[in-house]
Amino acid sequence: MPSEGEGTATKGGKESESGPTSEAKRSHHKADEQEEDDDDNSLDETLSNFSSVSEDSLPPIHAFGFTFHGSGRILWPNDAAGGRVMDLQHNLWKSCLGGNLTDTRLPIEKPDFAEPSFHILDVGTGTGIWAIEMALRYPQATILGMDISSSLLPKDVPSNLTFEVADITEEPWPPRLYDFIHMRNICQGGITDWQALITNAYNHLRPGGHLEFTLYKPRFFGVDPAQTDLPSGELAEIGPACRLYETLLTTMTEALGLDYDPMSRIVGWLGDLGGENIRERTYWVPLHSPRDVVMRERSELMRQVFLYGMDQFNLMLFDRNGWSESDTRDLIDQVNKEVQDPKLRSSVRLAFITAKKPLVPRSAAGSSDD
Ligand SMILES: C[S@@+](CC[C@H](N)C(=O)[O-])C[C@H]1O[C@@H](n2cnc3c(N)ncnc32)[C@H](O)[C@@H]1O
Repeated sequence: MPSEGEGTATKGGKESESGPTSEAKRSHHKADEQEEDDDDNSLDETLSNFSSVSEDSLPPIHAFGFTFHGSGRILWPNDAAGGRVMDLQHNLWKSCLGGNLTDTRLPIEKPDFAEPSFHILDVGTGTGIWAIEMALRYPQATILGMDISSSLLPKDVPSNLTFEVADITEEPWPPRLYDFIHMRNICQGGITDWQALITNAYNHLRPGGHLEFTLYKPRFFGVDPAQTDLPSGELAEIGPACRLYETLLTTMTEALGLDYDPMSRIVGWLGDLGGENIRERTYWVPLHSPRDVVMRERSELMRQVFLYGMDQFNLMLFDRNGWSESDTRDLIDQVNKEVQDPKLRSSVRLAFITAKKPLVPRSAAGSSDD
């Protein structure tokens, strides 16, 4: 794996003839070359086999009018349509966070932040939209965005941002520590062992570093308790197609050995690892049109995600579970009708987990030597 600060603005994804180091260099996107600015330059990149750029050279899979990563593992397209929905979701997450890019209050936001560097890793960066906005908002940060697929990564990026094509499930991770590791919406088949991912991420945090994990609650449809009262006094309900869809999503992902709902266990794993300030926060986004202006903006974004995204995330999953394309599309149409029915009042839950690695490890803090 190349060290941050190296590389040129070339697009990767080509097969290497000369070993992992040059592969990694080709997969590295950066606007400008710059000098290493910290202790990372002591790391010997030739010792790392982290880059898996050759995997990105697999021929892409074309199905259902979309293009998917050649590994066949990621059930979400890596084409322009997939990227458009990722960017819609980015705006939705941001709106839920009141315009912020993280739920974590990062030290770099403080006016008196005076550290020489602040290293951020964005795991499964997608179109890189979050990483780019972070790089622009915090020019003093050094950001690495990693993704198994190169196809949505932009070439022109701020000089404090680097993209690398790599499979985050591959061992070992680079011997580098980060001040913040961000993992947002990466449950589409590319990760099967969440505990290994969380453990790796935690182990690659600097003492005092933060981790943030965000996803949709995959039992998508709920009714926000605050909004159950319809004007007529009726109780809000979830539609039958939404209920069926939720059940199928669970059984189908389980049948493929995928875990789309790691949230509750992640909290426990972080506790076992010694994390502190572990917090899970849930946001309800209504799919009908609420009166409140801010909620209406979120609701509109969520509806667009459903409208443009439901076929993208589901056609491959349902196909692998033996469903025909037309039956899947029929169910998606019914779900999309129901989510817009103001009487049904479906809501989607978005969840954020944040945690901090203590400055002093728990065992050392508790030892009698202290
Ligand atoms: C739905 S997109 C989300 C992108 C971005 N995190 C965001 O929130 O805008 C999920 C991304 O995770 C990437 N991904 C999934 N599994 C991965 C893996 N094992 N290693 C690296 N990237 C992975 C996919 O290629 C895809 O770009």
